[in-house]
Amino acid sequence: MIKKIGIMTGGGDCPGLNAVIHAVVRSAVNSYGWQVLGFRDGYRGLVLNDYVELNSDSVIGLLDRGGTVLGTSNKDNAFDFRVELPDGGVEYRDLSAQVISNLRADGVDALIIIGGDGTMTAAELFHKLGVTVIGVPKTIDNDLCGTDVTFGFNTAVDTATGALDKLHSTAESHHRLMVLEVMGRYAGWIALASGLAGGADIILIPELPYDIGKVQAAIARRRAAGRHFSIIVVAEGAAPLGGEMVTKRIIAGSPDPVRLGGVGAVVAQQLEQLTGMEARTTVLGHLQRGGRPIPYDRLLATRFGAAAAQALKDGISGCMVALRGSDIVTVPLAEIAGKQRLIGKDEELVEIGRRLGVCFGD
Ligand code: F6P
Repeated sequence: MIKKIGIMTGGGDCPGLNAVIHAVVRSAVNSYGWQVLGFRDGYRGLVLNDYVELNSDSVIGLLDRGGTVLGTSNKDNAFDFRVELPDGGVEYRDLSAQVISNLRADGVDALIIIGGDGTMTAAELFHKLGVTVIGVPKTIDNDLCGTDVTFGFNTAVDTATGALDKLHSTAESHHRLMVLEVMGRYAGWIALASGLAGGADIILIPELPYDIGKVQAAIARRRAAGRHFSIIVVAEGAAPLGGEMVTKRIIAGSPDPVRLGGVGAVVAQQLEQLTGMEARTTVLGHLQRGGRPIPYDRLLATRFGAAAAQALKDGISGCMVALRGSDIVTVPLAEIAGKQRLIGKDEELVEIGRRLGVCFGD
């Protein structure tokens, strides 16, 4: 019998996290009479037992608010936790046992963990250690297995599409090449969706290594047809055939220490040399992660939050709530942990793009 649950947001933030918290707390308190503890800053809060009590009043106004009121971290891992030593040194320790004893001491019967692949992988490990846990899939990258869509993705696509709309008019006026670099890590979902929605001429994604000569040829074809500008969307993980992704920095201790970034400038410089046209680069960066969730994401986050609480009520554990078609389902964390959902060879949006004349550089 559940009396008290914990909730936590881990990994990079994304629009809709607060809407999940809102839905979980409202269902837990109103429908099931549970107490809710909100652990701060992802797994860090569970290790340090840093939490705040949440009730219906604490979630007023959260539905449309960006970020997460609980705070988050994409570098703290309870199984490999950074500990600062008295002599100034640093050590990484498995502090999962401390998390479990904190939960016992707090009287927390079950956890709802909201996060991306790194957070879900750790959630699965806690499930194996006997913790009752339900995962909720978030990430702007849309690269989580088991669900058709993650909340946050469509808000990021909305932001990137809005940027493309604005870049079009200035590109056309100045007869320039405009390169927009978008996030997505090793997946090209944001680039693909915003590129198609924003009418990009060229879309470069990690799943399809590009040949810069083919991009140059696509621009030449457009010029021959009287179009003296081109819009190029580049996913941060895009790489040339036989080449490497561009790394911006390495974050020590993070479950995924690589931070990508910079490929947009590389592509722009190469195209300027190859085509003789002026090129400019816009890096959208964290603008894609911040701000209010669009209604689609508020609704998906609300459905996920309510379903996560319901799953606990139904005695389910070790699963993640997911969207399959138009239904919310639960999938075992074991099936999705450690995996990424990349754009497949037969992806419909790529096929449609090709039919419309979009160049993927391959
Ligand atoms: O996973 C979300 C994401 O925004 C990626 O698209 C991006 O590569 C990464 O996080 C950026 O991480 P940070 O916030 O640490 O710069």
